[in-house]
Amino acid sequence: MITNTEIEKRGNQYPDHIVDFKHESDKFYFTTHNGVILELTILRDSMIRFRYATEHVFEPDFSYAISDDVNLGYNELEVIEEIAEYIITTSKIKIYINKSNLKVHIFDMENALIMEDELGFHWEENYAYGGNIVKMGKICHSGESYYGMGDKASHTNLKGKRVNNWVTDSYAYGKDQEPLYKSIPFYVGLKENIAYGVFFDNSFSTYFDFANEKRNVTSFWADGGEMNYYFFYGPEMSKVVESYTDLTGVPELPPLWALGFHQSKWSYFPESKVKEIASTFRKLQIPCDAIYLDIDYMDGFRCFTWDEQRFPNPKKMIEELEEDGFKTITMIDPGIKIDREYWVYQQAMENGFFCRRADGPHFKGKVWPGECKFPDFTDPEVREWWAGLYKEMIADVGVHGVWNDMNEPAVMEVPSKTANLDVRHNYDGHPCSHRKAHNVYGMQMVRATYDGIKKYTFPKRPFVLTRAAYSGTQRYASTWTGDNVATWEHLWIANVQMQRMCMSGYSFVGSDIGGFAEQPNGELFARWMQLAIFHPFCRVHSSGDHGDQEPWSFGEEITEIVKKYIELRYQLLPYLYTMFYKYIKNGLPMLQSLVFYDQKDTQTHFRTDEFLFGEQLLVCPVQEPNAQGRRMYFPQGKWYNYWTDEVVSGGVEKWVAAEIETIPLFVREGAMVPKYPVQQYVGEKEIKELGIDVYYKDGVENSSVYEDQQDGYDYKKGRYSLRRFRLRGKENQLIIQQFKDGNFTTPYEKFKLTFHGLPFTISTVQLDNEVVNNTDIKLNGNNIIEISKDFTELHIIGK
Ligand code: GLC
Repeated sequence: MITNTEIEKRGNQYPDHIVDFKHESDKFYFTTHNGVILELTILRDSMIRFRYATEHVFEPDFSYAISDDVNLGYNELEVIEEIAEYIITTSKIKIYINKSNLKVHIFDMENALIMEDELGFHWEENYAYGGNIVKMGKICHSGESYYGMGDKASHTNLKGKRVNNWVTDSYAYGKDQEPLYKSIPFYVGLKENIAYGVFFDNSFSTYFDFANEKRNVTSFWADGGEMNYYFFYGPEMSKVVESYTDLTGVPELPPLWALGFHQSKWSYFPESKVKEIASTFRKLQIPCDAIYLDIDYMDGFRCFTWDEQRFPNPKKMIEELEEDGFKTITMIDPGIKIDREYWVYQQAMENGFFCRRADGPHFKGKVWPGECKFPDFTDPEVREWWAGLYKEMIADVGVHGVWNDMNEPAVMEVPSKTANLDVRHNYDGHPCSHRKAHNVYGMQMVRATYDGIKKYTFPKRPFVLTRAAYSGTQRYASTWTGDNVATWEHLWIANVQMQRMCMSGYSFVGSDIGGFAEQPNGELFARWMQLAIFHPFCRVHSSGDHGDQEPWSFGEEITEIVKKYIELRYQLLPYLYTMFYKYIKNGLPMLQSLVFYDQKDTQTHFRTDEFLFGEQLLVCPVQEPNAQGRRMYFPQGKWYNYWTDEVVSGGVEKWVAAEIETIPLFVREGAMVPKYPVQQYVGEKEIKELGIDVYYKDGVENSSVYEDQQDGYDYKKGRYSLRRFRLRGKENQLIIQQFKDGNFTTPYEKFKLTFHGLPFTISTVQLDNEVVNNTDIKLNGNNIIEISKDFTELHIIGK
């Protein structure tokens, strides 16, 4: 028997001096005397992978996180050997590897230190399970800040915090609670205006300590697997996030309706209730695109079945809802009820698809239906079967999208809240225990779901939502932040979680608006809605235990406010869709924390509340009851108050009035914000003209609008319309140039331009150098003009 003290004595081990060096095209191998190998791969001039083996042996190289579409290639690579170190130089950075201890220092081309090993790589043998606990220590410099890391319910700047990534069903979690539903082991560091990133691609339970235990040390470690991390150089945060997003992938464009408003509850049933909710939306003229069926639509919580009493004819119901402009989304959980009469159970049993414990029996756990078994989604064969299960639901019954929940996997009545650690997984041909597969289990489930939905929804686009996620899950599904609570603190949490997720490559994200657990009052609900219409995924969901949470549940005044904001979201759909396009095209997060917007301004480093919706709208939610406004920080630039057109110059903190019907919302000067008319659902109206709000600027600003068929895949064949606008304002004139890309013909012929802040009265308008009659462009006193969409240059001259 080995005693605890003896285990402790095993302690940390460190690499010693380098005895061998090899260079093979984009890879370098440094081997130490005590058997550590550092494999360093140059993926790009600014993206380097570091991998460490002990006892001379690497594990097979496999990851679920990395996208097949990642762009690789570098311009320059040079290595030199000095007395004390090896120096590898790309066109962007220099990497020093110390010969006596394998420690790494990274510098930029101006010799500014970016990242420096403290203890560097070290490890401890894992006596209980075998393998190593792998660790990395970096120096944390004074003034250095840390962002990212997925769904952490903590201050956006993680300095001083320790976090753990172990996807966990965290019902009614609190601020700073760890761990939560996602494992996204990626952070952005910011040191003296140089941003860099670290992605520790390890699916075991991982920990990050951002100068919490020791003031000057940032470290990360995992319960097993390899020390395998990617380093990204900025120096802008946007570059770091773009590179990480490129490495781990982006989703396809969602159908536009998925960016509309969604209404959910646990649960709407029977059919008559679902229809009543839907028709109330239409009666009150509150836009809504999707309605959700939570677990109670199933027969005894058996996935892929329907409760025939509650939903006697789901196909007909879904068709009727669809005629009224509603898409129906159903929930599917991973736990399969143990029931010999149930076809899904039978198929999985016959084919050996359920996970087994170490000694052979199936793993069993209690979830909604009682005792369940769990498919091993890390097995490609199981994923294929699972994808096929959606055929009836999607292709025959007509369900429009699926919501995968409890996929951590959540297990009830056990302290671990999840599967036993000895449970075995295929891990795509790299058999392992749940310790390694846990964090990717939900991801692989939703991947299989995505494959199925995509197949059966084709030629339309799939919509999938997941609760659990590992890095890369953004390729398959949108996500929400799980079971939050109807409190003001949770409104704050939702705000930081969305910003953080966007900074972590996962932009298609939203919270349960109003809170899942407990009941919001009208004020909280309205304030939450004002924030959440600026979140990429916008859905009300609640546990239903405490009363209703529909837009009309809180009296007339609140209903009106909520309606106004949902309408604003529908007006902003072309702006939002363009944000999504930029996200998948360039990896640009859909929401930007202020530090992301302007990292040079140290005032932004510790801001949590203000954020950019896309690139040109500045939002700052009111997060307290009884407020008539709030103080907020304006980053550099000039900002128009969306409600009053009053202009504020950035670099200051200011009080902004915001009574209950108002959220502080500002537009960057020069912006051209595209708008659709209010519709009750996407596609309700043919868009007859594109509204564009033009905010005058003395200077230049670029804007754009991306459009396509709003569903389907023609856009991939070039059938899209990307309009880029260049606005140039001078003392008494405004010039707007338009550059067009793609061959989709938008249904409208005209733009309706509404000018804000024009410092002059319009006297003459020229379209492509020809003067137009004021009557032809419907110029009126409100500075609104309607013009053909096909100009290349619009010249507005003042009196
Ligand atoms: C979980 C989900 C929640 C859902 C409930 C019942 O708590 O997070 O959204 O309503 O399960 O399915």
